[in-house]
Amino acid sequence: MERVFNFSAGPSMLPLPVLEKAQKDMLNYEGSGMSVMEMSHRSPVYDAIIKDAEAKLRQLMNIPDNYKVLFLQGGASTQFSAVPLNLLNKSGKADYIVSGQFSGKAYKEAQKYGDIALAATSKDANFVFVPKTDRSSFRADADYVHICFNNTIYGTKFPYIPDTGDIPLVADMSSCIISEPVDVSKFGLIYAGAQKNMAPAGLTIVIVREDLIGKANPQIPTMLDYSIMAENDSMYNTPPCYCIYIAKLVYEWILDMGGLEKMKEHNQKKASILYDYLDSQDYYVAPVEKESRSMMNVTFVTGDADLDKKFAKEAEACGLKNLKGHRSVGGMRASIYNAMPIEGVEKLVEFMKEFAKNNPKAN
Ligand SMILES: Cc1ncc(COP(=O)(O)O)c(C=O)c1O
Repeated sequence: MERVFNFSAGPSMLPLPVLEKAQKDMLNYEGSGMSVMEMSHRSPVYDAIIKDAEAKLRQLMNIPDNYKVLFLQGGASTQFSAVPLNLLNKSGKADYIVSGQFSGKAYKEAQKYGDIALAATSKDANFVFVPKTDRSSFRADADYVHICFNNTIYGTKFPYIPDTGDIPLVADMSSCIISEPVDVSKFGLIYAGAQKNMAPAGLTIVIVREDLIGKANPQIPTMLDYSIMAENDSMYNTPPCYCIYIAKLVYEWILDMGGLEKMKEHNQKKASILYDYLDSQDYYVAPVEKESRSMMNVTFVTGDADLDKKFAKEAEACGLKNLKGHRSVGGMRASIYNAMPIEGVEKLVEFMKEFAKNNPKAN
């Protein structure tokens, strides 16, 4: 069967060379006589894989030495509780910017553990932009400020890094991690579910500044305690071994192409093909304000729910899969993560033009 262009928001496409390498290694990884799926996580051969995965991610993201890299489980959603349980340790206060559904969930979850304030939100505008903030938006004694850097459902991305002064900035980067360079030193903690840009579902990455850990709520479940995970090199228990191996192959794929600057160029090119088309016509509307547009998730509507439905259905038949928008917002969403080839986006734009021609609107 032909491979399709999968525009799913996650789990999503993995780079073909990565899948091919995994296929080659499937039955006998580097002469070990077994698949990586079958290996003990304590074996020397697996130890080399996880160490290399960490080293490659450090190289790729230029992670400073005073940050720990953790390979965890439980999805980004588990971090909605792990973050407050680890970091609410001085004033017990934290400030959240709610720019979409996931930051809303994180905000709600944190309220179980402390004095949590809403620093800014674009909820009243249906999250079509990322709210602006400055230092005065945050309480001076907050233990941290939380943001979701790329809002997968609404197709927005922070066009700026909030200035929080000395307050550690925590960012959910699930849907934009390793899509372009970021200055890790501007963040106290970065977390991401891996199933969009890094690996199959089951792996969560946490990058955390060392001085922020070791002061967790005493009632924290052991599995959520960053200091325990760091002391045990992410192997307090069995880690998601195979996902970590695929993540390593993905990091190698990006390093081989020239790193995150090159990855960004590739992603910008794809996003501009789509946005340039959207801006050049009036059949489809892209609801997100230009300044807040995401390079990873591109949302658009025809303005007619039946046409939107027809669009997604007919696109499927042309090998353009999973273009239906999130159930809470409708319309269409094209998730064009790292592994989506330029050809996939070109084919989508061709399809959009044809669809518009063949389905004139009533008025
Ligand atoms: C930005 C963002 N945060 C959090 C989540 C939840 O991630 P998980 O399913 O890994 O818990 C998602 C999932 O799509 C997401 O896009």
